[in-house]
Amino acid sequence: MTIYNLGSINIDLVYRVPHLPGAGETLASTGFTKGLGGKGANMSVAVTRAQSQCVHIGAVGGDGHWAKDRLNDYGVIDDHILVSEEATGHAIIALDNAGENAIILHPGANQALLETDIASALSSANSGDTYLFQNETNGLEHGVKLARELGLRIAHAAAPFEAEAVVPVLPFLDLLVLNEVEAEQLQSATGQTLAELPVADVVVTLGAKGCRWHSGQKTRAFPAISVIPIDTTGAGDTFTGYLIAALDQGKPMEQAIELAGKAGALMVTRLGTADVIPTLQEVQEAF
Ligand code: RIB
Repeated sequence: MTIYNLGSINIDLVYRVPHLPGAGETLASTGFTKGLGGKGANMSVAVTRAQSQCVHIGAVGGDGHWAKDRLNDYGVIDDHILVSEEATGHAIIALDNAGENAIILHPGANQALLETDIASALSSANSGDTYLFQNETNGLEHGVKLARELGLRIAHAAAPFEAEAVVPVLPFLDLLVLNEVEAEQLQSATGQTLAELPVADVVVTLGAKGCRWHSGQKTRAFPAISVIPIDTTGAGDTFTGYLIAALDQGKPMEQAIELAGKAGALMVTRLGTADVIPTLQEVQEAF
């Protein structure tokens, strides 16, 4: 089966800092790297590293041919990545010594998708395929309605969290992945508990505390694997990409979550985003 991922492609500009800067503070970085990122691109790479097929639906600018080519090199099908007149999206990432980050996003081409681009990408999808999306592109409502009409399994990672973006798509979702803070924000936006949402499966990631899977009235907790974090950027995206790939391969949810947790744990021991997402073999050998 194929995973169609409507998602952002960013140039990640990562600055190592002694601490995350406060308001009005000027801070010299102690290191700088530039790489491929974006929650969408990270998830597409994670899906392919987990050995599922992924079609990425997105856009770069004329300055982003290398990002499209790199996704292709990583095995992501890039036929539906447009080259827009807008500049490629980028992220300015401050990364402290504990591996925590603060991110400023410039959306650029990620917000320049046309509805016809999404429709054209999904025209080759079949029922049984999965449609995945996050909240760094435009076209969320259009894409999810189309995916539902086509009978695709629909998964959403509600990040970056915006109630106005996630609430309208909730009725279309089969699976929702979000972190603890986002789960609280969603509950206060909807007035509903996770069990009351119209979504069959909700997975809440809890960082170093693991994750929880809510399915109807049932909740199951999964512990985290203990690692020393170097860089938490992209770990959630790695978790989600691996989770979706494992489900696509027919694994039960428990096994899919366990694999995703291992991939996310290995990812936080690495510096960088899409370029360093571990392969399935690396994940299996590590834990
Ligand atoms: O989740 C990490 C990602 O968020 C980074 O790669 C950055 O581009 C932002 O989209």
